Amino acid sequence: MSDVVDMKGDWNRRARERPEKYIAGFHDASEAEFRESGRRDVSIFFGGIEQLLSEGRDVVDIGCGIGRMDEFLAPRVRSLIGVDVSGEMVARARERLAHLPNLSFVEGDGSSLPLPDDSADLVFSHVVFQHVPRRLVPRYFAEALRVLRPGGSFVFQLPQRGARTPSDAPDRDTYTMRFWDIDDVEARLRELGFELRPRESAEVGLPGERFLSLRFHAVKSAAR
Ligand SMILES: C[S@@+](CC[C@H](N)C(=O)[O-])C[C@H]1O[C@@H](n2cnc3c(N)ncnc32)[C@H](O)[C@@H]1O
Repeated sequence: MSDVVDMKGDWNRRARERPEKYIAGFHDASEAEFRESGRRDVSIFFGGIEQLLSEGRDVVDIGCGIGRMDEFLAPRVRSLIGVDVSGEMVARARERLAHLPNLSFVEGDGSSLPLPDDSADLVFSHVVFQHVPRRLVPRYFAEALRVLRPGGSFVFQLPQRGARTPSDAPDRDTYTMRFWDIDDVEARLRELGFELRPRESAEVGLPGERFLSLRFHAVKSAAR
């Protein structure tokens, strides 16, 4: 698929140029500052649902980048697999975090998970789907459901569409954020058979460009 090829090409280029810039908006940050952003985002993103990060859990991170968050998650769970469309990101993640034995990284095709059915307790994704062409995101919803064990959780972030948020960039643009309607996201998750847990929202962005970032939590029904 040409859209997937473009995502790969674009994100590989960003990884070669300066991954920290495109991952967390850091232009000249030190390694220590970059790492601190990973530690902070883990604590914010999993705030109130820390029980999902326990020793016996197998976890998947969609759009792992160079493992910014995974570094702080792997020590808390049984296994963690980071999947990314960019082989360059994956290569850098492997090199940075080679000291964490339960953490591995795989390159994906940009809309599916190269992982077996019923193999994970938690699938999560942070600041990734917002960059992905809208029509491809629901494929990841279905893939998360397939890969999760019954009772497993899918936790992900998306920016909320508001009165002043821009309409979608063309699909060839793999960076500009796309904003989503809560009802649309929740309807898609329910249609697939997920059970919804309470959503969280936080105001983020620059002054004058504030928007709500949503955290969705969907559970694969245990009765399957
Ligand atoms: C802004 S970075 C966030 C990385 C990581 N989640 C974090 O918070 O540090 C977005 C990442 O998503 C990856 N990505 C973009 N589109 C993707 C897709 N369709 N499938 C998987 N990964 C994708 C990029 O290569 C990049 O590593």
